[in-house]
Amino acid sequence: MDHFLYRNGSLHAEEVPLSDIAATVGTPFYCYSAATLERHYRLFTEALTPLPHLVCFAIKSLSNLAVLKLLGDLGAGMDVVSAGEYLRARAAGVPGDRIVFSGVGKTREEMRIALEGGIRQFNVESEPEMRALSEVASSMGLRAPIAVRVNPDVDARTHEKIATGKKENKFGIPIERASEVYAEAAALPGLEVMGIDVHIGSQLTELEPFEQAYLKVAELTGRLRAEGHEIRRLDLGGGLGIPYTRSNEAPPLPTDYGALIKRTVGHLGCEIEIEPGRLISGNSGVLVSRVIYVKNGEGRDFLILDAAMNDLVRPSMYGAHHDIVPLAEAAPGTESQPYDVVGPVCETGDTFAKARALPPMAEGDLVAFRSAGAYGAVMASEYNSRPLVPEVLVRGDHFAVIRARPTFDEMLGRDSIPEWL
Ligand code: LLP
Repeated sequence: MDHFLYRNGSLHAEEVPLSDIAATVGTPFYCYSAATLERHYRLFTEALTPLPHLVCFAIKSLSNLAVLKLLGDLGAGMDVVSAGEYLRARAAGVPGDRIVFSGVGKTREEMRIALEGGIRQFNVESEPEMRALSEVASSMGLRAPIAVRVNPDVDARTHEKIATGKKENKFGIPIERASEVYAEAAALPGLEVMGIDVHIGSQLTELEPFEQAYLKVAELTGRLRAEGHEIRRLDLGGGLGIPYTRSNEAPPLPTDYGALIKRTVGHLGCEIEIEPGRLISGNSGVLVSRVIYVKNGEGRDFLILDAAMNDLVRPSMYGAHHDIVPLAEAAPGTESQPYDVVGPVCETGDTFAKARALPPMAEGDLVAFRSAGAYGAVMASEYNSRPLVPEVLVRGDHFAVIRARPTFDEMLGRDSIPEWL
């Protein structure tokens, strides 16, 4: 459920007509609903209660400071994968002891920044990384709290580019080698072993792969404890999928996911961490765009929008589907017609949808891409020198620009021409 609904024939974000925002901010823009973000966060924490737990929002999915502050104020932790994300979480007021640092290639500099600022735990992914972290922490007179990310060799049955839990993927250490790796971690002077971490992929639409992975983690917890390690925390990663179409998808709900966690690892007496991104942010955001032209092509009509692949890359990168709806609700009985929905970027790959059924559209009409809150704005670029899309947050009947559209001068001003040219 989200808070983007038609009221009086016009698509609203909560109580604000999206067309009002378009009139003020211009198009394209991303718009997020505070109520939806809050609701999705709460679903997870309620699903895990009464287990001791921390829901760490994967800020790679949506990293605007205002969104992080909103979630942080509700008590959320944050899952970060770079110094930049770490600093975002801190700038949004999230204390270090609620920040988990994931990622396969943390640099020493990034480790130092997080250790200096305070960190709940590093999820380490390899032995060389473990050794580097131990060195950095020791040089600062600290011990870095860690979980080791294990790769359970489970097929997440999702898009190949976002599956991470098979042994051929670059992530984690093979679960069979865990005993060896934990023995070394325990012996390293700059580390303190806190637990185990696992994350098998993103946009999972079934619970079964999670179940397989979590059962393996439960078994490993017993084994490592028998080997003398104190396993206090389990970080179970993110990855729960969302419906991208209104009609035929029904991925498992956070309550089912919570019940699965309780069933598989709830008896171990560990504190549970999860790292959901998409389920919190995905359906909390839309991308609003304007039709520049309707072009009659050979056997097809193109809807040329002012948004492009640089603003929302998921369709061209993953072949992802986003529902596209007009801001002005079509009158009942209006016949839809097929459009190829494209952006202005000079690549054929800049295609959002082919033969998409929409009511008849005209120049100047506004449309919204649904489910664009996750991996939308954060993956945007300025390809074709198109300034980054602004972001807007709605709460109730008011809205605020939470990232302004750069002016052309600002965009050009980031470059410099050397004196010797
Ligand atoms: N934790 C770790 C270690 C991750 O690598 C990820 C996502 C998450 C948590 C959050 O997963 P989520 O709950 O959002 O599924 N750009 C792609 C998705 C990439 C996901 C990368 N890792 C897309 O647009 O579909």
